[in-house]
Amino acid sequence: MDRIFSGIQPSGNLQLGNYLGAIRNWARMQHEYECIFCVVDLHAITLPQDPRIMREATREVAAGVIAGGVDPNNCIIFNQSQVSEHSELAWLFNCVARLGWLNRMTQFKEKAGKDRDGAFVGLYTYPVLQAADILAYKATDVPVGEDQKQHIELSRDIAQAFNSMFEVDFFPLPEPRIQKEAARIMSLRDGLKKMSKSDPSDNSRINMIDGPDLIAQKIRRAKTDPEPLPERLEDLTTRPEALNLITIFSALSDRTMQSVVTEFAGKGFGDFKSALSDLAVSTLGPIGDEMQRLMGAPDEVDKILHDGALKAKAIAAPIVAEAKKIVGFLNT
Ligand code: TRP
Repeated sequence: MDRIFSGIQPSGNLQLGNYLGAIRNWARMQHEYECIFCVVDLHAITLPQDPRIMREATREVAAGVIAGGVDPNNCIIFNQSQVSEHSELAWLFNCVARLGWLNRMTQFKEKAGKDRDGAFVGLYTYPVLQAADILAYKATDVPVGEDQKQHIELSRDIAQAFNSMFEVDFFPLPEPRIQKEAARIMSLRDGLKKMSKSDPSDNSRINMIDGPDLIAQKIRRAKTDPEPLPERLEDLTTRPEALNLITIFSALSDRTMQSVVTEFAGKGFGDFKSALSDLAVSTLGPIGDEMQRLMGAPDEVDKILHDGALKAKAIAAPIVAEAKKIVGFLNT
């Protein structure tokens, strides 16, 4: 059976884009595959972090993943630092991957910015740790956004290089599964700006933790234009706010944009917004409620992550032990 691995940064403030772009897909995959999902705190410290905020954000992201439908009884969910095999395998891979390969990584260039000499060494070798995340479980499939494709390709290169350096057929070459869906959810206040957790206006976004009332209120206040909705999807290209609301409707209802446009053609935003609000409240409302409940029960979340880490370790430990043996470490 295929084994899925994916990771999410503990950066807090999960919003609609995180749900539609990642978490909802994860929840759907858990019924078909063996799934391992990881809150990547080791990756987080490749940029400076406030320890207390990071600890809270780790719980918050875990709560969001669980509330979003990833069931700890169906798959493994844990935070990376509790399974030491990730770090251990990353070191082996640091001695497989080449400087030249990492020099090509575009995310490092973006994150390091102008002051490259001031960046942590860990930021440079971030994709090597990512390869270790995946290969410590011999995962075959990795659901990620388009921006992570290069890192998954590097993981393949590392797996292949390890196998050929030591003349073994040990690591599988993991496949990226690019999650495109609803990547372009825009701000509710400005249809030309991406919906973002860093926007100063909370009304610009739907947070995963927002309950039914807040969701309804934000949709009611969402920016629109005075025209009724058109019959053809193409006519929305010059109406970014309308296009965005249709995009959200289509994503939440799993319907094509065209079918949504057809249903609401000629109607005003009053009708459309009230339908969108009902839809969003019924799909996202319970997630927000459950997330709030979990945030109020940190012991419950910590226990889930602890149990998940034990299960993860049980898979990773023998694989990493074997990798160490292949490399030639003496183990007495
Ligand atoms: N780098 C990924 C991101 O920023 C997160 C991540 C870490 C990840 N390890 C992973 C994703 C392993 C997939 C597989 O989104």
